Amino acid sequence: MSDLSPIDKAKFAAAKRATEYVEDGMRVGLGTGSTAAWLVRCLGEMVENGLKITGVPTSSRTAELARGVGIKVVSLDEARWLDLTIDGADEYDANLNLIKGGGGALLQEKIVATASDQMVVIADISKQVETLGSFPLPVEVIPFGWQTTKTLVEETLIGMDVLGRTSSLRLNGDRPFVTDEGNYILDLHLNRIGNARQLSLVLNQIPGIVENGLFIDICDAVVIGYGDGRVEVRDINEGTVEESRIDFLETENLFTDLD
Ligand code: A5P
Repeated sequence: MSDLSPIDKAKFAAAKRATEYVEDGMRVGLGTGSTAAWLVRCLGEMVENGLKITGVPTSSRTAELARGVGIKVVSLDEARWLDLTIDGADEYDANLNLIKGGGGALLQEKIVATASDQMVVIADISKQVETLGSFPLPVEVIPFGWQTTKTLVEETLIGMDVLGRTSSLRLNGDRPFVTDEGNYILDLHLNRIGNARQLSLVLNQIPGIVENGLFIDICDAVVIGYGDGRVEVRDINEGTVEESRIDFLETENLFTDLD
C-alpha cells in the first residue's frame, strides 16, 4: 500500500467507498479505466467473501479483469437492465455532467450507464472542473470515411460555443486506435465547452459519429477520493455531500494480493 502513489490511493479510496452502493443480488455495470479497475478488484474481494452480484463490463479489458477476480460476468443483453453502474470519468462538473472515453470505451460505458437505475462516478479530485472541455472530448466514429467525418466535425464546431476547434485521430502506435466495437476515436481539442448538452446533440447528428463522450444527466453521484483516505460523496439528486475516511490498513490484503 505504501508503494502506491497518492493518486492511486485516491482512486482506491473512491472505489472502496463506492462498493457501499453494491448490495447482494445486484446487477452492476463495471466501468473501464484505472479507477474502475480498483473497483473491480474491491468487488472481487467482496465476492470472495460471499457477495453475490452479476457484473456487466463496459470493455473487454474490464471483462477480463472481472472474470479474473471471480465476478460472474454477463452481457448487457443477458442482464437487460442494471441496478447500478460504477465508472471513472475524465472530467466532471458541478452538475455531474461528464467527459468520458479517455480509455476508449465510451460507447459501451454510455450504453451501460444509461441502462442503469443509478450511475456513480469514482474519481480523484483532479477530475473536477468548473467547465468541461480541458480534457479532449473523445468521439467514436465509424472507420468508413473517417477523414470526411473529421472535416464535418471541425466545420460543425465553427458554430458551437467552444474555444478550440481541432481534432485528432487517436493512435495506438502508428495505427489508428480501434475500439471494442471496431471503430475509431477522434479527440476534439475544445478547451472549453460552453453548452455541453447542445454540443452532444449536434455531434450525434453527424452520420459517421456513433457516440460522443459527453455524459449529460446520466450520473447520479460522484465519489471523490483523496490520497490520505478522505472520501467525499456528492449526490446530485439528494443534494447532499457526505464525508468519510477509508482505512488503508484494513485493506492491506487487497494490495498484497496484487503483487
Ligand atoms: C474509459 O473509456 C474512460 O471513460 C474512463 O472511465 C476514464 O478515462 C477514467 O479513467 P481513469 O480512471 O483511468 O482516469
